[in-house]
Amino acid sequence: MRTKLVAGNWKMHGSLAANLRLLEALKAAAREFAGARCAVCVPFPYLQQAHAALAGTEIALGAQNVSEHDAGAYTGEVAGAMLRDFGCRYVIVGHSERRTHYAERDAQVAAKFQAAQRAGLIPILCVGETLAERDNAETDAVVGRQLGAVLDAAGVQSLRDAVVAYEPVWAIGTGRTATPTQAQTVHEFLRAAVARQDADIAARLTILYGGSVKPANAAELFAMADVDGGLIGGASLVAEDFASICKAAAGR
Ligand code: PGA
Repeated sequence: MRTKLVAGNWKMHGSLAANLRLLEALKAAAREFAGARCAVCVPFPYLQQAHAALAGTEIALGAQNVSEHDAGAYTGEVAGAMLRDFGCRYVIVGHSERRTHYAERDAQVAAKFQAAQRAGLIPILCVGETLAERDNAETDAVVGRQLGAVLDAAGVQSLRDAVVAYEPVWAIGTGRTATPTQAQTVHEFLRAAVARQDADIAARLTILYGGSVKPANAAELFAMADVDGGLIGGASLVAEDFASICKAAAGR
């Protein structure tokens, strides 16, 4: 039985004051979603604030990006060990916004995935197709290639301590969610791709769905056999909504 995980991706949102309100409200609601794992992935400058605010709670901390290098002359980059210093457990790698706006390619995403694991972080590897790719029936090929790049570089064993997030690009921030069946179909495909290399790792692998998850659709998505929780953008900025999605993951 896989324990569900709900991870908030704050993206480039927040302020000291707004974060304080959000984190305090989440902490106050945490008892109600105790049956699920919950994490917030915050912008780098707020890691210290969130680390302190979440100390002693079950809400885990994550970041949204990591360098593929461990240290060195890489101006503006942040290393995995630095994220660990601030109490991060998770880091998102290969989010479609990074692939699109910052030209991150599969090989670089795989290198970031490995750098995260070297630092003791759990990478949340994002995969997902664009609308044009879906319309061309290329969904399996695209997500298979994105996952395959990590399997080739890091090996199937690396998925023992990793999370995969299926995030169709057309569903991110658009209010247009994949139907539970659409999500399940891709999740099943991804798990089968891992199972071909290691059935046990595939059975244990947490595969999140991301893309316009809201309180109104979370329960039906999380009810699907291969959907193990969500990666939540917009709704993770509203404490009540995020708590309600976490509750749906906890089966409440
Ligand atoms: P959204 O974002 O929930 O706002 O669609 C999801 C994501 O980008 O992780």
